[in-house]
Amino acid sequence: MTPPTTIKTRHDSSRNAAALRAAPGACLVIRGGRVIDPASGLDRVCDVVTEGGVIREIGKKLGAPSGARVIEAEGLIVAPGLIDPHVHLREPGHEYKETIASGTAAAVAGGFTSICCMPNTSPAIDTPELVRFVYDKASLSGRCRVFPVAAGTKGREGKEIAEIQLLHKAGAVAFSDDGDCIASAQVMSRVFAAISQTGSTFMQHCQEPTLTQGAAMHAGTVSARLGLTGWPRMAEEIIIERDVRLLRHLRSPCRYHAQHVSSAGSVEIIRRARQDGLPVTGEATPHHLLLTHELCENYNTLAKVNPPLREAADVRAIVEGVSDGTITILGTDHAPHSAEEKSLPFEDAPMGMVGLEFALPLYAEALVASGAISWPRLIALLTVEPARLCGLDVLGLGTLCKGSPADITLIDTSAKWKIDPASMVGKSKNTPLAGRRLTGRAVCTIVGGVVVGAE
Ligand code: DOR
Repeated sequence: MTPPTTIKTRHDSSRNAAALRAAPGACLVIRGGRVIDPASGLDRVCDVVTEGGVIREIGKKLGAPSGARVIEAEGLIVAPGLIDPHVHLREPGHEYKETIASGTAAAVAGGFTSICCMPNTSPAIDTPELVRFVYDKASLSGRCRVFPVAAGTKGREGKEIAEIQLLHKAGAVAFSDDGDCIASAQVMSRVFAAISQTGSTFMQHCQEPTLTQGAAMHAGTVSARLGLTGWPRMAEEIIIERDVRLLRHLRSPCRYHAQHVSSAGSVEIIRRARQDGLPVTGEATPHHLLLTHELCENYNTLAKVNPPLREAADVRAIVEGVSDGTITILGTDHAPHSAEEKSLPFEDAPMGMVGLEFALPLYAEALVASGAISWPRLIALLTVEPARLCGLDVLGLGTLCKGSPADITLIDTSAKWKIDPASMVGKSKNTPLAGRRLTGRAVCTIVGGVVVGAE
């Protein structure tokens, strides 16, 4: 990857913070790629011209203005910059695992131009000051756009409702206590009611806590063999079922998003809720689309994740959910942890795995190579869909429409490579997939008309 070009950053106090853009006259011409913009229905071989950080023109055989940088994109997909709505950046508080600088470097290496970061930091992102801290830090050290998701309850303790309106005004793009579930139905319904006043989204970490106390992995044959406490599917399903029921009782329900869906039963609950017209979405991670609990054999802590890897039938149901439009959001749940933490005994090791740098080929393997969906649909799941979920579409993100920010990802769908922790740029390398062969890669990442990641 080439070193980053200087990015001019601007932070204003509106929701349009973390704006990154090229100098006013700077021009980029991306020539001859297959331009796929699901938001506008575009899918054809043509050129894209950016100027001053925005999309100026898309069309056939456009001339290059003098001084323009030209990128030859023949054979590549030219997509809107990819968006990941579920990332842990660990700043403030756990900078030894990841920082906004290192996490955004990992993001652009993987083709992501916007990421939404979770509030399970230390302290938790539960005040307007902390929301602004993330924007400010991202303006200074971020390589891509960063949008904070704020806690739904103070300290993420699930007890006292956070100052939802103020957090929303400060720029929180959604709310979540991710890492923990809001267990109290009473608190949950109040949080839903408050969020519905803002037009924002609640993202649930679906885990009924009394059913998962001390749980280290999926409750099944492997946990039984290893003598580990199991995390049953129903602990996830019960929460989604409960939340859908709470939403049905609200006059104007807020948007509800079930994070990192791991169970076939959850897919079915989300399917029914959507058929009933409720504003419910579900999210699939690369690991829940591909991996199963057998990976935890030999007490492999790198495969320890929350919710846990489950069984082949769950994987099939999640892929099927993406294929039939039940699951419309893909999120990495990029969860960095240090090597020391992951070398603890299985029960004590933290849950989570990193994902930003190689999510795209894993999604492509699970969803496109398998025949479940097409490349244009995959691009939609990584652009316009998360943009709408987090209100980033109003900032012009998730599309290549004329006048929108020039956030663009170039994809070589046939590039062959391997996951090599030694060449990863994120601070933590906790992945159970080291050595895995991949097909497809983001080969150039452009944020606000500036090339920030390329080979
Ligand atoms: O495995 C996980 N790790 N799942 C979560 O929900 C939280 C995350 C973390 O923060 O480490």
